[in-house]
Amino acid sequence: MRVLKATALLALAASVLGFPQGADPANFPTASAVSAPIGESAQFVSSNPTGLSQSVAAEISSLYPPQERSIAYSPCVELPQGSGDTPKPDTPAVFQSYSVFAQVARSAPIPPGYRQTFGNLQASCNAQGYLGYASMRSYNPTMCAAFCNKTLGCQSFNIYYERDPTLNPGPGCLNPASTTFIKCVLWAGQVNAANAVNTGQWRANFQVVIAGSNGYWTGK
Ligand SMILES: *[C@@H]1O[C@H](CO)[C@@H](O)[C@H](O)[C@H]1NC(C)=O
Repeated sequence: MRVLKATALLALAASVLGFPQGADPANFPTASAVSAPIGESAQFVSSNPTGLSQSVAAEISSLYPPQERSIAYSPCVELPQGSGDTPKPDTPAVFQSYSVFAQVARSAPIPPGYRQTFGNLQASCNAQGYLGYASMRSYNPTMCAAFCNKTLGCQSFNIYYERDPTLNPGPGCLNPASTTFIKCVLWAGQVNAANAVNTGQWRANFQVVIAGSNGYWTGK
């Protein structure tokens, strides 16, 4: 029963994410001014519906279909943890100036089949055709490229570090400790420096910020 449910969930996720069999590119979201949700979404699929190789799947901790939007958690509910470093002291400024994020972003090899459109920005993209995202276990553009390759219609991806709260900020926990997500966001249009405009947001007194944001495009 559990297995059947999981299978149904994966099939749903595969169709929702537009992977690959039977998906109609005409149904892809094409609205502008969408971006990947901040933090973790309420529902996710922590498995591999995409036919990714084991090495790629092992790098992905969760997959999020494009419909996932905001979270309706109660204040101070514990949120999922990301895989990135959490620089200390735990402030937005220290996060943004953490040299390891910059070094990793700057030295990341450009994946075959892609060209880099920008590097090491402190903002994520609002491109055309949001296709969902994965949270990654490491900052690895080649693995993100493999995910994009397996996603019908994917032309670009944006990979970055995001400072997110460990508790849902609200009364009683206005500025909780942070965790760092490494996000690999897929787009049907081009990501570029001009649409890398999401610098984060405030959630109560917690500031979500972004670092080490790189963009890659197939050039098609
Ligand atoms: C992605 O696709 C490009 C173009 O077909 C190919 O050159 C590249 O090796 C692929 N990358 C991965 C990681 O599968």
